[in-house]
Amino acid sequence: MGSKMTAKKTMDEYLPKNAVIEEILQETADSKTLTLRPIDKGSTILKYRPGQFMMVSLPGYGEAPFTFASLASRDGRFQISVRKVGSFTNALHALKERDIVGLRGPYGNTFPLSKIENKNILFIAGGCGIAPLRPLIQHVFKNRKEHGRIEIIYGCRAPRDIFYKNEIESWRNNPDTAVHLTVDEPDQSWDGTCGVVCVLLPKIKLVPKNAFVFLCGPGIMIKLAIQDILKLGFKEGNIYASLERHMKCGVGKCGHCYVKGKYVCTDGPNFSYSEMKKMGIDS
Ligand SMILES: Cc1cc2nc3c(=O)[nH]c(=O)nc-3n(C[C@H](O)[C@H](O)[C@H](O)COP(=O)(O)OP(=O)(O)OC[C@H]3O[C@@H](n4cnc5c(N)ncnc54)[C@H](O)[C@@H]3O)c2cc1C
Ligand code: FES
Repeated sequence: MGSKMTAKKTMDEYLPKNAVIEEILQETADSKTLTLRPIDKGSTILKYRPGQFMMVSLPGYGEAPFTFASLASRDGRFQISVRKVGSFTNALHALKERDIVGLRGPYGNTFPLSKIENKNILFIAGGCGIAPLRPLIQHVFKNRKEHGRIEIIYGCRAPRDIFYKNEIESWRNNPDTAVHLTVDEPDQSWDGTCGVVCVLLPKIKLVPKNAFVFLCGPGIMIKLAIQDILKLGFKEGNIYASLERHMKCGVGKCGHCYVKGKYVCTDGPNFSYSEMKKMGIDS
């Protein structure tokens, strides 16, 4: 009896449950945001917390990891943002509203929600790296009084590559909050900052002592930003980066995501800088 239940639990872990695509938004030239609603009974997907990811599957095309890009709405919907880079993401981009995808998860660790209560928080995102941070940003603004000063630094290649434009503007309306944007290639509409995210660090007004930093973006951005924020006095153990590694199973079985004693899928994908140094991915 006991072993049967264990086997069922293990099998369930791998079985995708259906979700319907309720809305599709063209986010940027190569990225779409899909609003999904789980429809299969027994789906555990809505138990997710900010920072976790899921495996999305399409029969005939395969499966790939995607981060939850929003908090779940009260009626059980949430978003993923998909950048078109290869065959699977091309197939996801070809889907229409009312089409069905398979989901399994949630997987991975969550951001340290209890540790950041009453703390100042700095978010640093590059390009589609804003997606994994968005549920945490939404959580922090939903519980605004339970956190200190919030600053968000977001850099993109060009103004047309900025994700969640309207929502980002609405973040500015929160008390004791600053949002700083920068682009590498300004167009005629842009009168803001130009350059990599690090050029915005001198503008932040939050006190680094005991503050938390959450980063996601290209590896080189994470590396350079961490070097600079350490110089400002942020503590290594309070700096968290969301990492992307090739993943097949998402549940610590296949070894694809293994880095020096850690499985990015189960021990991560969110690691403190202290942990990253032990994994040899600090530089
Ligand atoms: C935890 C996690 C969360 C993710 N969240 C998102 C998300 O929210 N939105 C999104 O668009 N993508 C996300 N990704 C990446 C996404 O899974 C890949 O883009 C997807 O698997 C590519 O499949 P493909 O068949 O379209 O492209 P492929 O042909 O498999 O790959 C195209 C290119 O992308 C690179 N690539 C593929 N997978 C990864 C990966 N995991 N890490 C780094 N490079 C990769 C390949 O090396 C290749 O250069 C996430 C990955 C991980 C590990
Ligand atoms: S993806 Fe299989 S072990 Fe992490």
